[in-house]
Amino acid sequence: MRVSWITESSSSLAKVDYGLSPGSYGYTASGTTSSYKYLLYESGAIRDVVIGPLKPSTVYYYRCGPNLSPEFSFKTPPAQFPIKFAVVGDLGQTEWTASTLQHLAKSNYDILLLPGDLSYADLDQPMWDNFGRLVEPLARQRPWMVTQGNHEVEKIPLVHSQPFTAYNARWRMPFEESGSDSNLYYSFDAAGGGVHVVMLGSYADFGRDSVQYKWLKDDLGKVDRGRTPWVVVVIHAPWYNSNSAHQGESESDDMKAAMEELIYGARVDVVLAGHVHAYERFTRVYNDKADKCGPVHITIGDGGNREGLASKYIDPKPEISLFREASFGHGQLEVVNASHAQWTWHRNQDDEAVASDSFWLTSLSSDPACKL
Ligand SMILES: [Fe+2]
Repeated sequence: MRVSWITESSSSLAKVDYGLSPGSYGYTASGTTSSYKYLLYESGAIRDVVIGPLKPSTVYYYRCGPNLSPEFSFKTPPAQFPIKFAVVGDLGQTEWTASTLQHLAKSNYDILLLPGDLSYADLDQPMWDNFGRLVEPLARQRPWMVTQGNHEVEKIPLVHSQPFTAYNARWRMPFEESGSDSNLYYSFDAAGGGVHVVMLGSYADFGRDSVQYKWLKDDLGKVDRGRTPWVVVVIHAPWYNSNSAHQGESESDDMKAAMEELIYGARVDVVLAGHVHAYERFTRVYNDKADKCGPVHITIGDGGNREGLASKYIDPKPEISLFREASFGHGQLEVVNASHAQWTWHRNQDDEAVASDSFWLTSLSSDPACKL
């Protein structure tokens, strides 16, 4: 588990004390301290400590140094099924966001997946710190696995030409561990290898001659579906979308043209996207047509950002779109066993226990008709 936090002073080593009971820390790990500059802004000291090995499904108590923080706790994900992912894109930091976070807190998820557009700092760097404070009560308790959206780019021609400066400095993901050369795309296993999650970069090069494409091909090629029945892909800009918002963008259309065949060929079960501020679920699709061996595509960009909801849809509704609604909320993917998973969508105007859309998903690895 990587623990990241920010202190005002960069003096002394970053370290985390941790253990299995409150107030008793049998282990200590040290890490790195970094910072970044953005125009006139200079960040605080960004502390990064990787701790472990850790036991699965276990609560650990920890505190962060050198200026010792209060005691926090987190729970490690299980090493077998069932496992529950919470999914929320385009989060931002509004009252809608606060409502989404309240619902997420009640969902008892194991791992959070965020398909891009985190803080909506949009060049105003202290907003990244505010976002950290807003999500900390949840993010300090469970792994938050994120990928980037367009709001993370923060590039200004001639003035600040380096993209993703704040995002890469503040939200470091385990890309080296999955053989990736970039924090913008990586993969990891969950549930003891039962689920392989691929976090792609919609705003990194994705063409067939790109490093990301080659990495994805290698990464999917290494998955043994006998051992890993589920494969989930997370992107920012959706490849399937019947909302009027964000039609015709290169990150959707050209990335789909480049990578869809690879994703289909690997029998990926689900593709989760954000970007469009609404919820939409498609049937299994490939090449714009229903296909029983293609992934289910879901847009879950309804976290609560300041730009509001995308409530205009293309009419008539395409047959491959099964459910679409512009309301704030989040999704949950509960993988029950090697063959079955349940997806639910939870609107913020309902109680957490109410699922506004729900369906059961069968792993493509358990469908003989889709065997490779
Ligand atoms: Fe976006």
